[in-house]
Amino acid sequence: VNLALVTGASSGLGRELCLLLAKKGVRIIASARNFEKLRELALELPESTLLHPADLSDPASRKTLIALIRQMAPDVLINSAGFGLYGDILSHSIEEELKMIHVNLEAAIELSVEAAKSLKEKKKEGVILNVSSAAAAFIYPSFALYAATKAALLHFSQSFDTEMRPFGIRILTALPGKFDSDFRLKAGGKRKKKEAFCMPTRTVAQAILEQIQKKQKVRIIDLRYKLLLFVGRHLLPQWFVEKILRSAIQ
Ligand SMILES: NC(=O)c1ccc[n+]([C@@H]2O[C@H](COP(=O)([O-])OP(=O)(O)OC[C@H]3O[C@@H](n4cnc5c(N)ncnc54)[C@H](OP(=O)(O)O)[C@@H]3O)[C@@H](O)[C@H]2O)c1
Repeated sequence: VNLALVTGASSGLGRELCLLLAKKGVRIIASARNFEKLRELALELPESTLLHPADLSDPASRKTLIALIRQMAPDVLINSAGFGLYGDILSHSIEEELKMIHVNLEAAIELSVEAAKSLKEKKKEGVILNVSSAAAAFIYPSFALYAATKAALLHFSQSFDTEMRPFGIRILTALPGKFDSDFRLKAGGKRKKKEAFCMPTRTVAQAILEQIQKKQKVRIIDLRYKLLLFVGRHLLPQWFVEKILRSAIQ
C-alpha cells in the first residue's frame, strides 16, 4: 500500500488507523471536519501527510474530496467517519436523523464508488474498507436509523465487492462491536467507567488492517461479538433481543 485516504481521521478509530498505517510507511490523506484535531494528528505523522477537511453530510463539501480521489486514486480508502444517535426516532429532529444517512451511508457509498472508478480507470488494484457495525445485524429500537444505515452499507458493500473483484478492486466491510472512542458520548450516552464487551480502539484498528491485508470480505470484530451476533440472530427470539438491546442503550 502506498497511499491511504482515511475519513473520520480526527478521532477514535480513524485517528488510530492513520497512526498504524503511517508506522507501516503508508502515506496518509486524513479527512474530517475538525481541522484543529487533524493538525494535532499531523504532528504525529510524517511530513508527507495530506490533511483534507470536509463535511461529509454536505454534498458540496464532499466534491473537493472526490476531486482529490480522482486525481490521486489512493490504493486504500477507509470510510471510518460516522455517528449515531441514541433514543427513539421521535426524540430527535428528522434533520439530525437524516444527517446520519448522509454521513454513514450516502458519503461512504459516494466515496467508495469514486475510489473504485478512479482505480479502474488507472488500471490499479486497491482496497476500499467500509466501517459498518455489529449493530447492522439487528433490528434496534432506540438506535433504529443508525443500525439501518450500517445494515445498508454492509449490503451495498458486499454486492459492490463482487462486481469489482474481477478488476482487483475489493470493497471490504468491518463490523466492530463496542470500542472505547467518544462515539457513545456524542450519540447522547453517558461516559461509564467500565463497559461490558468494550474493546480498545487500537485493537479494532489492528483487526481492520489485518482484514485489509487478508482481503477478507466481511469481518466481525471481535470473536466475542461474532458469538453474540450468532446467539442473538439464531438462538434467541427477536422480541427478547430487541428488549435487551433497547435496555442497554437507556
Ligand atoms: N465506537 C464504537 O463503539 C463503534 C462500534 C461500531 C462501529 N463504529 C463506527 O466506527 C466509526 C468510527 O467511529 P468512532 O468510534 O471512531 O467515533 P468518533 O471517535 O466519534 O469518530 C467519528 C469520526 O467521524 C467524523 N465525522 C462525523 N461526522 C462527520 C461529518 N459530517 N463529516 C466528516 N466527518 C465526520 C468525526 O470527525 P469530525 O467531528 O472532525 O468531523 C470523527 O473523526 C463510525 O463509522 C462508527 O459508526 C463505532
